[in-house]
Amino acid sequence: MNASPEITRDLLAQAVDQSHDGITIADARKKDFPLIYVNAGFERLSGYPAAELLGKSCRFLQGADTEQPDIAILREALHQGRNCIVTLRNYRKGGALFWNELSISALRNEQGELTHFIGIQKDVTERTLTEQHLRQSHLDLLNRQYDRQAHTDPLVGLSNRQHFDEQLDHMLKTAQRTHSLLSVLVIDLDQFGRFNARYGRPAGDTCLRMVGECIAKSFSRASDCVARYENDEFAVVSMGDSPGGLQLHVSKLRNQIRALNIPHHDSPDGVVTICIGCTSLIPLRDTTAPGLLKLADSALQQAKQRGYDYEHIV
Ligand SMILES: Cc1cc2nc3c(=O)[nH]c(=O)nc-3n(C[C@H](O)[C@H](O)[C@H](O)COP(=O)(O)O)c2cc1C
Repeated sequence: MNASPEITRDLLAQAVDQSHDGITIADARKKDFPLIYVNAGFERLSGYPAAELLGKSCRFLQGADTEQPDIAILREALHQGRNCIVTLRNYRKGGALFWNELSISALRNEQGELTHFIGIQKDVTERTLTEQHLRQSHLDLLNRQYDRQAHTDPLVGLSNRQHFDEQLDHMLKTAQRTHSLLSVLVIDLDQFGRFNARYGRPAGDTCLRMVGECIAKSFSRASDCVARYENDEFAVVSMGDSPGGLQLHVSKLRNQIRALNIPHHDSPDGVVTICIGCTSLIPLRDTTAPGLLKLADSALQQAKQRGYDYEHIV
């Protein structure tokens, strides 16, 4: 024993009994390793008085919750007479769950025969729940990031085509149910191919981001959805604007894009401009999302036929 002379057996016994953690001793030579000693800490932890614990295997603390991976690890270690540390779900007298970090030490006599197991039980409920909570929060965060990425166009940071199509379907159904005005816009940069050819791809990407941001600021209600639909084409779905209001809104957007003052020397005004095709209607029962996009797209073609920086609403 490594102890100074003033350590008596009584003091040691008292230290074990008064320890805050549970301390138990089981007979390793008997079937099921029955308990032959439990300290006050284990009585407190388990809620059972010593009289109800002695002579029994601790297995009953697991209740019906016996399909725990750590129980198999513990069983194997006990079978082989090895030390181990496991964390188990246990149930106090009365049924309350607690997480029990159990450390098992195998005790051998001078002949090397296994005689006892010592168990030290620590209540790690708070720590385990905090870890589970952190893990769950981290998973939720990853899922949210994944969802956002799956919905977002990586270049301009707006919704992508798939998310737009889902939102359009959803808003179309709402507008059909509530008889609301629904507007779908298709927006295209004038002569963007030439812009890219003259200024290069990185400048083209920056231009798309600036235009996208400006459109998103213009349609910023929570129910609006602004997407990069393909290449230099943006799409918007918005609900509830009046036809007059929409006309103003769309003209204002064209002016705001022009006011970005992005140089474009192949354009008559010398700056980047857009054309907008828009359909605005209270959808009927047989109105479909592809039908709305087709209407907005042919409105865009009509705007483009007039030249640069036009809108056409049907
Ligand atoms: C000294 C000692 C203390 C133990 N303490 C606990 C305990 O606090 N909680 C628990 O669920 N199992 C405890 N066990 C393990 C069970 O008593 C049992 O050995 C385990 O569930 C594997 O056996 P089984 O396959 O018969 O269930 C302890 C075992 C020993 C030897």
